Amino acid sequence: MPIQIQENILLTNYTTLKTGGVARYFVTITNQTDLAEAVAFARKEGLPLLFLGGGSNMLIDDAGYHGVVVWCAIKGREYTEHEDGRVTLVCGAGETLDEVVAESVAKGYWGLENLSSIPGTVGATPVQNVGAYGVEVSQLITNVEVCNVVTGEVDVLHNDECEFGYRESFFKKENGKNFFITAVHFTLQKNPTPKIGYADLRDKFSGTTPSASDVREAVIAIRAAKFPDWTVLGTAGSFFKNPVVRRFEADALREKYPELPQYEAGEGMVKISLGYVLDKVCGLKGYKVGNVGLYEAQALVLVNYGGATTAEIKKFATHISDLVYNKTKIIISPEVRFIKNKIN
Ligand code: EPU
Repeated sequence: MPIQIQENILLTNYTTLKTGGVARYFVTITNQTDLAEAVAFARKEGLPLLFLGGGSNMLIDDAGYHGVVVWCAIKGREYTEHEDGRVTLVCGAGETLDEVVAESVAKGYWGLENLSSIPGTVGATPVQNVGAYGVEVSQLITNVEVCNVVTGEVDVLHNDECEFGYRESFFKKENGKNFFITAVHFTLQKNPTPKIGYADLRDKFSGTTPSASDVREAVIAIRAAKFPDWTVLGTAGSFFKNPVVRRFEADALREKYPELPQYEAGEGMVKISLGYVLDKVCGLKGYKVGNVGLYEAQALVLVNYGGATTAEIKKFATHISDLVYNKTKIIISPEVRFIKNKIN
């Protein structure tokens, strides 16, 4: 069946921050052929492409997107058990991450349980190397199936070609932006591999041997206490990245704020908890301007309390960055991607 090209589709319903104007063209794709057709259409019209999964980490311009938005609905979940206890999961990019986590855990497989309750699709996970509670998808991904929309070539990228870092990957870099992710291959385990080093999990499970589903339940409970319900309020999880600073800067911060959590980030760098800085250092937890604010239970989570625009969110984020800089001299940057209207 040929693809359906819709026009002037409001993107508010396709992003978890619930903002953004209309897409000039909007195409839902369910397979590689649809993707090729959508790409050919954009080329014919001379318009740019925007790939959209769950829209959980995107801030789209209020003026919309003057191009072709390609919404990925490529499905499929295939599990293969190996004799050594490994389980390969090949998953379509358009699958909802949390449904896949729930299914794999119900099957008794280990690996994805710490990533419970995260909004978004599987195809988006390699882009920002989604992570939570001591696990990043880069530890589980073996391969990523891609289509280079400039050359039309399909390829399989191995983990070490994805250039994974903290909320970073090849797909966020200039060369990687032409790659549309169609499927992700994960390696899970049949034998227990609990990752319960994160403080809240360690406290809960000390001296016990939890199942993967116990860990999933615990993560769901922790997140429910810290994050707003993204089906009700507009949110993108953490709006900013935790800053990574040089050791001497971290030492100076420790002198001033001894309780500020710090984590080794390698190569003489130290990651610091921005949630703590926003909350305990700057007193900004629950701070609101109009309909935008930092969530009452987790200051790193920015919330659209209803009807806020992208412009308001950007202005608020800049205001927060300035407040943090003025108080601590730390430069912070968003984890969320800002998508410009290509006409501007
Ligand atoms: N903290 C406060 N006040 C706050 C928020 C946090 O004092 O309002 C303190 C906490 O007590 C804790 C520390 O800051 O000591 C870190 O907080 P938390 O454990 O909640 O994690 P985070 O660093 O704020 C990161 C990820 C989350 C992920 C959690 C759990 C980033 C940008 N965020 O948040 O990922 O779920 O760790 O692993 O790395 C996301 O990327 O969208 C996301 C939600």
